[in-house]
Formats: sequence, C-alpha cells, structure tokens
Amino acid sequence: MTAERLDGKRIAQEIREEIAAEVKEFMNAGHAPPCLAAILVGEDPASQVYVRNKERACEKAGILGKTFRLPASTTQSELLATIADLNATQSVNGILVQLPLPSTGNGGEGFDERAVLDAVDPLKDVDAFSPVNVGLLMQGRHRFLPCTPHGIIQLLHRYKLTTSGKHVVVVGRSDIVGKPMAMMLAQRDGSCGGEIANATVTIAHSRTGNLTEICQTADILIAAVGVPEMISGEMIKPGAVVIDVGINRVEDRLVGDVDFEEASKVASAITPVPGGVGPLTIAMLLHNTLLAAKLQKTEST
Ligand code: GUN
Repeated sequence: MTAERLDGKRIAQEIREEIAAEVKEFMNAGHAPPCLAAILVGEDPASQVYVRNKERACEKAGILGKTFRLPASTTQSELLATIADLNATQSVNGILVQLPLPSTGNGGEGFDERAVLDAVDPLKDVDAFSPVNVGLLMQGRHRFLPCTPHGIIQLLHRYKLTTSGKHVVVVGRSDIVGKPMAMMLAQRDGSCGGEIANATVTIAHSRTGNLTEICQTADILIAAVGVPEMISGEMIKPGAVVIDVGINRVEDRLVGDVDFEEASKVASAITPVPGGVGPLTIAMLLHNTLLAAKLQKTEST
C-alpha cells in the first residue's frame, strides 16, 4: 500500500482564501479590519520564523498583524503590562504570546508562563490557551478552538475522512495539541468542524507501557510527541490514517514524529512534514482572529 498524501498546505490555502473573502465581507459591512497582536520575547530563531510567517499570512488575508518584539531581558511585570495594554486597546482583536518564552528572561529567572497566558483577555485569546476557553471547550460550548487541533479537524473533514465510531490514538498530552485534540474528537456532535466527532479516543504518552500495541489498534493515529520519527511502520495498523504534528530539526532536515517512509507503506493516508499540519495552524489562527473581531463587535453593542 502507498498512502495518500494529505496535503495540508493546499487545504490551508483553501481556508485562507475563504477567510480573506470573509474579512472583505466583514469590512464591507463597515467594520475595521481584524487585528492580531503577536508578542515575541527574545531571539529564538524558530519563533522568529513562525512570527514572520504569521505576519505574512495576516497581510494576505486582509488582517492587520502587529508584532511586539521585546528583548529577552524583559521582566515578568513588563510583559504582563504589555498584555494589559493590548487587552485594553479596542482596535486589537487577538493577542498571541509566542511560545516558548526564553528561559533566560525575567532577569534570568525565566517567566511564569502560566501567569502570562492567563493574563490574555479570554475574548482576545486566539490561541485558546486561557482556562476560560479550555473550560468552554471541555463543556462542548467552545468560543475559540486551539489552532493546531482545529486545523487537523479541518483536514480530516475536507478529505471526507470520518471519525464516528473510530478508534483514535493521540500520542502526546500537551495542553496545546494532545489534550484538546482528544477532547474535540470525542465530542458528541460536530460542533468543532464538519462531521468530525464521536470518536473513541485513547491518549498515549511517554509513560504508556504498551505503546506499540495501543498504536496498532488505531484507525486514526495522531502523533504529537516532539520526538523525531518515534512512530515506526510496525506501530501502524494497515490502512490507518496517520496525522503527524511533529516538526523536528534533525541535522539539516525537518522530520515529523512519524517515520514517513515506513508509515507510507502501511497507512492509507498520511500527512507529510513539512506541508502537512504546520500550515493549518496559521490558517486557523487567522480564523480565530476574524472570529475575535466578530465576537468583540457583537459583545460590545
Ligand atoms: N509556539 C509553537 N506553537 C505555538 C502556538 O500554536 N501558539 C503560540 N502562541 N506559540 C507557539
């Protein structure tokens, strides 16, 4: 079997065009352009690339993208003050604090990341990291959906891959991907996107004893562990759908959490790295920024 390549880049482009059209419509109705403020602390090269890509994507969609670049020497209270300013600025609809925050920041002590993310106004929390938005998602009445899991939902939906009654194994339990992904797939209805719901979900992680056996039972396997090529071909059930969230730099190559070559011989469909899940994250960030602009409009009248 040679797996079908799930082209996240193409789907992301499709979504971005839809958002650009919606932004135009929103502005034609007399609203100011949606505005996303990104805060980048320090000089991490990967974060700089991400933020530049976000700026470019915003511009193409007709969204104002503002980046606040702060030195690594910024203190916790200075960072919180920047967030408070943006919370209070009416023209800013979405706020994103680029992670990871530098471990050398805040006078060498490192930042209290939880406190920083908690400081973002939940109505402007386009990453959906605030406890309010996580709680709403848990209860099946989400406001913003976290960008990477939402991108995966859109990818499955647009490739007409179904989840109802299927066994999905999510490898990884991060707050950004693993945990919300599992929650979204187990929802009773398709409120998170299309008909993607009603899956039976297993969350596996670094302490899972029989990881290979559990993965082998997955109809859909989602790898989000951050360990290069950890998921081997033998861990995949023949015909399974494999979603690789990992982006790992190994020497001068980017590789996922899945051994792509071996997995492609077993799976029915698989996302490549790069060009799979990555581009969808930014597309869904644009979606959340437009949604934030619409919500703030609604809730301020
Ligand atoms: N760093 C890596 N992924 C993300 C993300 O989705 N949001 C933010 N804010 N930082 C990140």
